[in-house]
Formats: sequence, C-alpha cells, structure tokens
Amino acid sequence: MDVRPILGDGTGAAKHAALRVARQLRLTAVNILVLGSGAREHGIVRSLAQEGGHQLYAAPGNPGMGGLARQLQVDLNSGADVTAAAQRLAADLVVIGPEAPLIAGVADALRAAGVPCFGPGADAAKLEGSKAFAKDIMRASGVPTAGAAVATTRSEAAAALDRFGAPYVVKNDGLAAGKGVVVTDSREAALDHAELCFGAGAPVVVEEYLDGPEISLFCVTDGRTVVPLAPAQDFKRALDNDEGPNTGGMGAYSPLPWAPADLTAQTLSQVARPVVAEMSRRGTPFQGLLYCGLALTSEGLKVIEFNARFGDPETQVVLARLATPLSGLLFAAATGTLDRAEPLVWSADAAVTVVIAAENYPGPPVTGGVIAGIEEAEAIPGVHVLQAGTRLDSSSRLVSAGGRVLSVVGTGPTLAAARGRAYAGARTIRLDGSHYRTDIARRAAEG
Ligand code: AMP
Ligand code: GLY
Repeated sequence: MDVRPILGDGTGAAKHAALRVARQLRLTAVNILVLGSGAREHGIVRSLAQEGGHQLYAAPGNPGMGGLARQLQVDLNSGADVTAAAQRLAADLVVIGPEAPLIAGVADALRAAGVPCFGPGADAAKLEGSKAFAKDIMRASGVPTAGAAVATTRSEAAAALDRFGAPYVVKNDGLAAGKGVVVTDSREAALDHAELCFGAGAPVVVEEYLDGPEISLFCVTDGRTVVPLAPAQDFKRALDNDEGPNTGGMGAYSPLPWAPADLTAQTLSQVARPVVAEMSRRGTPFQGLLYCGLALTSEGLKVIEFNARFGDPETQVVLARLATPLSGLLFAAATGTLDRAEPLVWSADAAVTVVIAAENYPGPPVTGGVIAGIEEAEAIPGVHVLQAGTRLDSSSRLVSAGGRVLSVVGTGPTLAAARGRAYAGARTIRLDGSHYRTDIARRAAEG
C-alpha cells in the first residue's frame, strides 16, 4: 500500500487532527473510490478533497465533482466490475454510497479481493433491505421499536391494521427509496397500499404508529467498535408543515438544540451497540455506516428504520460539521481499527441544507431544464452547493436529470445563521418548475 500522510488543508486544527489519525493508524488511504452520484456522495467527495493529498475517483460521480474526483463508468451493482475497477485504480479504500450495491454484495466482493471497503456485506445490509429482517434483529437484541406484523394477503393486512389501529403505517418489505411507506388515517388507503405491494410481489410490514419527532443518528462501525456522528433531522415530506407525500428527503439540519443531552449515549447503548453485537454474533458483522432512524416518542426512543449507508440529505449537514478527517474514520471502519481512532472533532458551526427538487418530484420528475445560479450561491459566505440529479448536455450546459437536483448547504455560528445562508443560496438557483420547502430547520432555529 502507498503510505503517505493526510496533509489536510495545511491549517490549524484540521491538519493536526489529520496527522494524528494518520500517525495513529500508521497509514493513509490515498487512492479512494466513491460509488454513487448523489449529493451525499458529492458531500463525501468534498470532505475527502478538503483533506488534500488524495487521489479521488467517483463512479459514476456527477458534474459537481468535476474538479474533485476523476469519474468513471462502472456497473455499480456488479461486485466483479467494481472490484476490477478498484484494482485497476489501486484503490486503498472504496466507499459505497447507495444501498443497491450493498444489497447486491459489492462490499463482499471487494473484501474477498482484499480491497478495504466502507460498507456492509449483503447479509448485513439486509438491515436496510428487509424491514422484516430488521425487526427480527431488533427483537433478538432487545432494541425498542414499533410493534409490527408481516402480512402477505389482504386479510392478514386488515387484521394487523385493526390490531394496531389508526394512524395506519404500511411498509413495502423491500427497498423503495423512502417512498414505500404509507402513513394514513384511512384504512382503505392503507389496504390499497398493501395490495399494491402484494401485486409487485412484496410482503408488507404493518406497524404501530410512532408519535414524536424523528432523528437520524449515523453510527460508523467496524463490526465491533461503534462511533456515533452528530444527530441530524431530515424533512421527509414534500411540502411545508410536513404535508404532501413522502420523499427521499427535502432538507436537513444539525445540531438539534432541542434533543435530550443523552440522546447519543442512549442510542449507542440501547440501539447501535446491541445491533452491531447481534450482527457479529450471527457471523455477519456490520462494517460501515449504521443509520439509526429514531422517533422520540412519549414512551422514549424507538427505532423507525435502519439504513446501511449514509443518509441523504443528512450527510450534507453532518459532514459539513465534521472536523476530523473523514478518510481516516472510514478507513479505520473498513479495516477493523476503529478502536484506535481518537474522539471525533466537530465544528462549532451549525449546518442546514435545502433540497432543490425538480418539477413534479416526488412523482416522475421533469428533467432537462437548464440550471443556473450555483456560482452566485457559492459566492455567499458559508454556502456550498452539492449536486445530485444533474448532467451536462451536449452543449456542456448543466441540466436537471433527476428528482432531487441540488442540495444547497449553509453553515454558520447559529442554526438561524446557517438557515439564512442556505435559503439565500437556494434563492439564487434558477431551474424552471423547481421547488423547495421553505420551513427546513425553522422551528429549531427559532428555538
Ligand atoms: P421508513 O422508510 O421506514 O423510514 O419510513 C419513511 C417515513 O415514514 C419515516 O421517516 C416516518 O416519517 C414515517 N414512518 C415510518 N414508520 C413509522 C411509524 N411506525 N410511525 C410513524 N411514522 C412512521
Ligand atoms: N434521509 C433518509 C434516507 O437517507 O434514507
């Protein structure tokens, strides 16, 4: 392996933290391949690039990563193709952004070939891939979560709905990019969603409704040691005041001034550590990022869902605040050396991100519209723009190519300042028909 120190940006605390991690781990991953093309991956690449000294690659990447990472085309869901690419690039570390390659076993293929990989193998990624599996792990490890029943027929679904009562929660058991869940007061609508899932060959999970605010806590783990990142809150509904359909996420912020002081400690002891231990006990250790989606209910903290990867758009705000070099942390998780990592260092700044969505999102988005205003946004102090559903057209113009087009991130000394900057940035973006929520982090910023 090529061993060169992480150099950081040459300034103060970040440099010292980088050198400490490098010394501690006695190595530095310098060739890093990031899989994915969203704003989450753009945020990961941006953080890695800020450390300096790395050669970064992204597959397929997006136009926003242009100056930061060399981009290549690989079949992301083929373990053989990704491994061949990683070996050709002499990658010291592969970071898997989206869930599909994880569930397809790409991390297993990389590890089998001796390539350090941040991301769980297929057996562990089932924590995200199957809601029924996640419930089984939680039951086995005593993790608090909503009561649930699996149904494969309309009458089973109806019985479960009546058992838990309204509001009704019906989830597609498979992957659905955050859109497979229906929460409704209408028993008819709940049954219709179940029928839709059965029609597509998937069972459903019917759940008890969890009241209370939602929190996302990312936990980095090597299968034994668990390192929590900063809690964040995601806004899942399409419209202001949490109205409209569920989306992949319309905005996020961190920190959460209203959250209980012991939230992270509680999540570690009641959720993340027991789950990581149970996965290891079963011989399928979870190595990567365990995303704990939590509800702070009147009965205490309960798990809504797990994901097996960084969340989007929470990553955009969490990484904006992380001062510890990301490469050392991900490499330690990938190589089973997280117990040697020093405590994470966080910026005192707050971060808010606002997602600019294409016309008609979360329905089939209108694409091909010209995007302008990114440079103006980034001229505002404390603002950066991460790209997701974008591409360059034949005249090299940046055009929309997906539902969630951009994440405008604002940082500042307070949530209110960060929020003001994120929205000042969002207002400069021009894309016909695009829309964004105007209430991201509003209540938290107002105290
Ligand atoms: P999931 O795909 O499981 O994350 O669900 C998507 C969203 O649906 C969550 O972020 C919640 O807003 C909502 N949701 C899921 N399960 C429940 C539940 N048991 N009670 C209330 N809301 C839920
Ligand atoms: N922000 C929700 C997710 O990444 O699944």
